[in-house]
Parts: sequence; C-alpha cells; structure tokens
Amino acid sequence: MAKTLTLAIFVTTILAALHQTTVAQELHVVGDSLGWIVPPGGPIAYSTWASLQTFSVGDILMFNFTTGQQDVAMVTKEAYDACNSTNPILLQTTGPVNITLPSAGLYYFIGTMDTHCFLGQKLTVDVTGTSGPATSPAAPPPPPMVPVATPPRAPVTYVVGDELGWIVPPGGPIAYSTWAAGKTFFVGDTLVFNFQNGTQDVAEVTKAAYDSCDTTTPATVLTTSPAKITLTTSGDYFFTSTYSRHCFLGQKLAITVMASTTSGPTPPPRTPVPAPPRAPVTYVVGDKLGWLVPPGGPIAYSAWAYDKTFFVGDTLVFNFTNGTQDVAEVTQAAFDSCNTATPTTILTTSPAKITLTTAGSYFFTSTYPRHCFLGQKLAINVTATSSSPPGSIAETPNAYSPTAGGPLSSASSSAAPSTTAISLFCVTFLSIVTTFLL
Ligand SMILES: *[C@@H]1O[C@H](CO)[C@@H](O)[C@H](O)[C@H]1NC(C)=O
Ligand SMILES: *[C@@H]1O[C@H](CO)[C@@H](O)[C@H](O)[C@H]1NC(C)=O
Ligand SMILES: *[C@@H]1O[C@H](CO)[C@@H](O)[C@H](O)[C@H]1NC(C)=O
Ligand SMILES: *[C@@H]1O[C@H](CO)[C@@H](O)[C@H](O)[C@H]1NC(C)=O
Ligand SMILES: *[C@@H]1O[C@H](CO)[C@@H](O)[C@H](O)[C@H]1NC(C)=O
Ligand SMILES: *[C@@H]1O[C@H](CO)[C@@H](O)[C@H](O)[C@H]1NC(C)=O
Ligand SMILES: *[C@@H]1O[C@H](CO)[C@@H](O)[C@H](O)[C@H]1NC(C)=O
Repeated sequence: MAKTLTLAIFVTTILAALHQTTVAQELHVVGDSLGWIVPPGGPIAYSTWASLQTFSVGDILMFNFTTGQQDVAMVTKEAYDACNSTNPILLQTTGPVNITLPSAGLYYFIGTMDTHCFLGQKLTVDVTGTSGPATSPAAPPPPPMVPVATPPRAPVTYVVGDELGWIVPPGGPIAYSTWAAGKTFFVGDTLVFNFQNGTQDVAEVTKAAYDSCDTTTPATVLTTSPAKITLTTSGDYFFTSTYSRHCFLGQKLAITVMASTTSGPTPPPRTPVPAPPRAPVTYVVGDKLGWLVPPGGPIAYSAWAYDKTFFVGDTLVFNFTNGTQDVAEVTQAAFDSCNTATPTTILTTSPAKITLTTAGSYFFTSTYPRHCFLGQKLAINVTATSSSPPGSIAETPNAYSPTAGGPLSSASSSAAPSTTAISLFCVTFLSIVTTFLL
C-alpha cells in the first residue's frame, strides 16, 4: 500500500519533470553520437559513457532513438538487474525523448524491445545534488578502532558485493568469494552490507557454523540495512544470513583481515641513482588527449609511451578534469589485474605532477570505477644512467628536485573514491544474472 503510494508520487514527480524546462542545467545526449541503441560492445558502452558524465539535478537526459526501432523505460533497480520490462515506472516509445532528472539518486533505464536490455541497452545514472562526483553510500566517519599498528593505507569502506548487495546470490556462493578475492582487508576497514530490511540479515558466525550453515547461535546479528561492520581485529571473519536456507544457497562471505605490521603492500624496491643523461623533461601524459578513459582502449597510453625515454629526474604531468579521474600509482600485479583497492599513491587534483625520482617500472591507472578495465593505464620504465658521467647532474642543479620521502613528488593526495567502485565483478555478475535469467 505504502509502496504503491510512493511509486505513484515518484511517477508524478517524473511526469512533472518531463514537462519542466526552466530548471534545465545540462543536456546529456545518452551515448553521444552512438545514440540509444543496442550497443555493439554490450552494456559497457553506456556504463562507460555514464562514468564520464556528471549528472546534476535539473539536467536533461536525451535518449536519441528511432521511433519503432527502440524505446526507453525507466525501471526499478530490480527490474534493471533482471531486464524485466513488465511494469516500468515510465515508458516512452517516441524518440527522441528528453527526461529531466528531478532529484538526486540512482535512475535505471532499459530498452524494452525484444532482447535489447539483455544485449546491453541499459543505463544507470547517478544524479548528485551537488556538482561533485557521485559518492554512495556515504563513507562513515573514521571507525573507533584500536589499531595494532599504523595501517598501511587509509581505512577503506567496502560495500559487500558492490551493486549486487547482500542477497542470496543467483550464482551461488562463488559470488561473494569472487567479490572478496581481489581485495585486501586491514584492521580499521569497514564492511557495508546493503539489503532489504526484513528479507536478509548479517550474522557473524564461527568457522564451524559457517561451514555447516548452522545459524542457530551466531556471535552477532545485524538486522537493519545498511549494516556497517568495522573490522577491529585481525583474523578470519565469517558472515551469513540466518534466514531459512540463505546460507545453504550461497549467501556467505569469508574474509581474512590483516594487521598491518608485516603484510602491507609495498612498492617494488627501486634503486636510487645519481644523474640523468640530459636535462629533465616534463611529459604531459597523452599530450592533448590528457588523462582519461581513452576512446580506443589501453593502446592509447602504450602508444604514447612507446617512443619516449624516461630518465630519473623527468616529470609526468597528468591533465584531467577534477572529480572525474584520479592518478593512482599501483604495483604491477594491481596494474595487470586492475585491482585499484590498494594503490601506492593517489593524486586527485589536476594537473598532477609526478617527478620520477628512482629507476624502475612505474604503473599508473585511475581508481574510478571501470577506468582501468577500459584502458586508462600507463606503464613506463624509468632508466638510470649508470654510464653517464657523475658530474652531469651539476649542469642542471635546479631543474628537478627528487623527494626524499618516496618515489613520488606531488602537492596533494587523498583517499581513494574506490569505496564506491563498481568492479568488473559486477559487470561479469550482471552477465551471469542475464544468462541465468535467459
Ligand atoms: C539523433 O540521431 C539522429 C540520427 O542518428 C542524428 O541525425 C541527430 O544528430 C541526433 N541528435 C543528437 C542531438 O545527437
Ligand atoms: C517482473 O516484474 C513483475 C512486477 O513488476 C513481476 O510480477 C514479475 O514476476 C517479474 N518477472 C520476472 C521474470 O522476474
Ligand atoms: C530536448 O532538450 C533539448 C535541450 O533543451 C532541446 O533542444 C530539444 O528540442 C528537446 N527535445 C525534445 C524532443 O523535447
Ligand atoms: C532499514 O530500517 C532502518 C531502520 O528502520 C532504516 O533506517 C533503513 O533506511 C532501512 N533500510 C532499508 C534499505 O530499507
Ligand atoms: C589540460 O587540459 C585543458 C583542457 O583540455 C587544456 O586547456 C590545457 O591546455 C591542458 N594542459 C596541458 C598542460 O596540456
Ligand atoms: C583542480 O583543483 C585544483 C585545486 O582545487 C585547482 O587548483 C585546479 O585548477 C583544478 N584543475 C582543473 C583542471 O580544474
Ligand atoms: C619495462 O622493462 C621490462 C624488463 O626490461 C620489460 O619486460 C617491460 O616490457 C618494459 N615495460 C615497458 C612499458 O616498456
């Protein structure tokens, strides 16, 4: 009853917004020149497009499509995930369609014709109240913890299952083990379990109870979503739901939390060396392209780096739009796997300048969701010049200034926005769900 009323109010708001033109701020043509079609490359097309936009209240989404060949429906998250077009919030069949975004929040759009949604004609839009980048859910204040030692990085808030949330996963227990596999948990980190009140809970249990799915005597049960659990001690943690059959059906998560003294990720050792063979050079990464998700994929930055030689003392400048990208230095393993959970360094302000102070390999990406997977990554080798005359540094004494504290020299750095990251897992998982439902 209350649900129906809420929905009715929501629909009214949307319809009102459709006729409202005065508050328009920015027009976003969905997919740009691609328009609103079944995208050739699958759902990544629109998620990429959306990740490069900032949606504010009052902005207009234009779905540009040919009447009769496509349509657009605004649906609930559940319907979006399942590509269920049975009961859309709003359906428009005559293109092009303008939709004004009436308030902050997440909006879900799909094409309802044939298998269009399953094939990737779907779009999630995260509308922020401000002009800043989207963040959801809000990160909690620093947890009241008793750290064993200084953590190797700032505490991270993990949303369990990312967009999937905390449910009985369609694919069985592999869903949460996959989610946890790429992550490192340290004392001080927080887990957020998102679920529908009254349909799940979060129970912390012993290993034996976890293995046997005996949920009769859990250590702790949290029944209200979002349930936040700060990991205050190192060791193994086991979570499930006490609802009937949930554990057996795969709603279970096991993680190992590390104290920070011995296990922190460390950048590969580099050898400090004396002098560059020429005056230091400042490189603008990507030149005019700047630092973004490159249209053509990862080849953009490897091609850019290909004909360049980097020496100790050179500087990289990453030019990007504040709030839409960042620059993270990561390990080779993290670079290869696009695991941006624990970067060595993150710079969030453009232009980000990095002076290469030691020889060795450097790996850069952006911690924003999907950016790494889509090709925003740069690997370079920095050469020391052991053969260069020791005195050559004196010729350019003020041209560069290596930082004593670490490999990077920069004015600013701050915490990663990766707490809201939608990992490849989710993309993969959506395809699993899709397959499952087909
Ligand atoms: C909408 O699509 C048509 C046909 O592809 C194209 O000619 C037109 O320029 C598009 N409009 C916008 C605003 O992109
Ligand atoms: C699709 O959604 C409708 C209600 O919106 C529901 O009745 C129906 O069972 C759903 N279909 C599937 C396949 O989930
Ligand atoms: C959509 O909005 C844009 C920008 O306000 C406007 O130019 C265009 O005519 C509108 N199209 C429709 C179909 O309302
Ligand atoms: C669950 O219930 C709590 C307390 O009633 C409420 O604050 C919260 O918003 C609810 N969460 C969801 C996801 O409905
Ligand atoms: C950085 O990008 C902006 C906008 O694209 C451009 O105006 C500026 O010249 C660029 N700066 C450098 C150093 O390339
Ligand atoms: C990014 O933000 C910094 C600090 O607020 C500012 O100095 C800089 O000009 C901004 N860069 C761009 C490209 O907007
Ligand atoms: C860096 O050097 C290593 C070893 O010499 C090589 O395997 C790798 O391809 C180089 N990377 C780049 C980006 O040139």
